[in-house]
Amino acid sequence: MSFENTVAVISGGASGLGLGVAKRIVDQGGKAAILDLNAEQGEAIAAQAPEQLLFIQTDISNEAQVDAAVDKAAEHFGKVNLAVGCAGILGAGRVISKKGPMPADYFQKVVNINLVGSFLLTRAAARHMQNNDPVNNERGVIIHTASIAAFEGQLGQVAYSATKSAIVGMMLPLAREFARSGIRCMAIAPGTFDTQMMAQVPDEIRQQLAAEIPFPPRFGDADEFASLVQHINENQMLNGTVIRIDGAQRMR
Ligand SMILES: NC(=O)c1ccc[n+]([C@@H]2O[C@H](COP(=O)([O-])OP(=O)(O)OC[C@H]3O[C@@H](n4cnc5c(N)ncnc54)[C@H](O)[C@@H]3O)[C@@H](O)[C@H]2O)c1
Repeated sequence: MSFENTVAVISGGASGLGLGVAKRIVDQGGKAAILDLNAEQGEAIAAQAPEQLLFIQTDISNEAQVDAAVDKAAEHFGKVNLAVGCAGILGAGRVISKKGPMPADYFQKVVNINLVGSFLLTRAAARHMQNNDPVNNERGVIIHTASIAAFEGQLGQVAYSATKSAIVGMMLPLAREFARSGIRCMAIAPGTFDTQMMAQVPDEIRQQLAAEIPFPPRFGDADEFASLVQHINENQMLNGTVIRIDGAQRMR
């Protein structure tokens, strides 16, 4: 099995891990809508495979925009049978820093993009998937990106870790709810992957993170993440939980 019959919606697909998934789907003959804020990057990527990729500028934290984007993807490609949530922001910062307490609206912004955005993509995708003709009793797969910060968040990751552990927490109730529709829900918790997001991290912290990875002693590549997305899509027994992909990294 491959992504040949896949029609995906990928949030955050204009960069990093989401882009890795889009590329793998295209290489295998599948189709994908890229839902991302970054129109310049998104349009340029979609232009490379116009038959297979559609860019839809979307703020993943906006309910109406996410619903409209997934509707548009389903109309354009005829169905949606895979949703991959990769849109996210770091949202680093101490609760009490030299500048004073972290503003509530900063914390809420991280929650709105990372967590509410994952919920909105789930909702919009499942609404379409439930009407798909079943293949091997299955109508769709929903995969979200958590982080190993869901389990061992570092100092300065209160907001980020809160959203990532909440994504993990959604998986079992989602799997239970969607079981009768034949829709599976999984989360992936990456360690450190070399993407635009990681490029924002100061060199000193990048080096510290790299030193924490037992094997392979390097950052992950987006296609290694995409390969796990593909496996989850193919393996029906994976449902309602989270898989770490981290080279045994445990953040300190
Ligand atoms: N790179 C890592 O080491 C790593 C590790 C663990 C988890 N993650 C998670 O993986 C996901 C992807 O991260 P990445 O490393 O590929 O980062 P990235 O910055 O390369 O890509 C993230 C994408 O999300 C988009 N985005 C941001 N806010 C958005 C919004 N409101 N609406 C729509 N799109 C939005 C950005 O434009 C960007 O294209 C994130 O959820 C991140 O938290 C990354």
